[in-house]
Amino acid sequence: MINVFQPALGAEELDAVRQVFESNWPGKGDVTDRFEAAFAKHLGTDRALVRSANSCTEGLFLAVPLLGLGPGDEVILPSISFVGAANAIVASGARAVFCDVDRASLNCTAAAIEACITDRTKAVLILHYGGVPCDMEAIGELVRQHRLLLIEDNACSVASLFRGAACGTFGDVSVWSFDSMKALVTGDGGMIRCRTPELATRAEHLLYLGLGNKSGLRNIVETRWWEFEVTCCGRRGILNDIASAIGIEQLRKLPRFLARRKQIHEFYDRELSPASWLKCPPPVPDHSTSSYYMYWIRARTDRRDRLAARLRQDGIYTTFRYFPLHRVPFYGADERLPHAEQAADETLCLPLHPSLSDEDLEHVVTSIRRFDPGV
Ligand SMILES: Cc1ncc(COP(=O)(O)O)c(C=O)c1O
Repeated sequence: MINVFQPALGAEELDAVRQVFESNWPGKGDVTDRFEAAFAKHLGTDRALVRSANSCTEGLFLAVPLLGLGPGDEVILPSISFVGAANAIVASGARAVFCDVDRASLNCTAAAIEACITDRTKAVLILHYGGVPCDMEAIGELVRQHRLLLIEDNACSVASLFRGAACGTFGDVSVWSFDSMKALVTGDGGMIRCRTPELATRAEHLLYLGLGNKSGLRNIVETRWWEFEVTCCGRRGILNDIASAIGIEQLRKLPRFLARRKQIHEFYDRELSPASWLKCPPPVPDHSTSSYYMYWIRARTDRRDRLAARLRQDGIYTTFRYFPLHRVPFYGADERLPHAEQAADETLCLPLHPSLSDEDLEHVVTSIRRFDPGV
């Protein structure tokens, strides 16, 4: 089966894990510290603003209360978002308000967000769909104007740039995912970047039981180092050195991964654009750099569904990310969001990851070319 997403792990990651085994400390330690520093450097941001977490979902659940959001507040997010983003908002007691997306890019726009602003709106939680940055100029201006907080979900955009600045450096709190389907994989894992060192320190406390002082030998006091202070009701959302050792190696390989992802993207564009019954994704704007996390095509609903089934029979797995949350009854939304709905009815994400061989890619495009779209 050709997978839609897949990690690319190799001997370097295995060797890094072996070294962690030899150190006999697989928990959070120096390797995680090094991974956080390397990730901050990758973003071009101050290391003091960055903390690791055991998942991006944990980061989302932390971001909402970290910014003081809760009952009575409204947080706007695109309906085409990861389910954990809405769950994090709802779990805090705040209301998730779903906005529409751009018809072609599936990113939320400043205009769509603005249409949802009320006097209870406190924050916006955006997603850079497929790795292509949202228009951060317009969204930045809007959140400044309305004094809203901004959370960035960068699960798709680990290496994306908007006008040269890394996605994730615009928000008050930003989160990344390193789960096994992402462009950078640690098994499970995540990263958080906060606007200020104070917020990052508070995030650190929330990630480790609310403890305000270091435990064990890292505690600098010389007597009764077993005593502790609790600053808040934190959970235990920390990353460990096994995952971080993998992350350091994956970060080194990231430019290579991205080059291959871009190549695959261009291959699909070239091979599929002649087919008149489907649409390729819009080009990445000149001022942006994509992480090429997803390649999505659009086709009439009946064709899209039949094509997905046909490809599956041919050993090619496809999917649609992300089913619009305003259509999920649990969230109790009654908005009509035509672009998000149309996207859900017409979009299909094709396999895109660095482990795809040229033969795999030929197989995908040949299967699509052989598909009979009917009338
Ligand atoms: C856009 C988006 N945000 C957040 C997440 C959550 O990431 P994690 O699996 O690290 O919790 C995912 C995972 O699929 C995602 O796709």
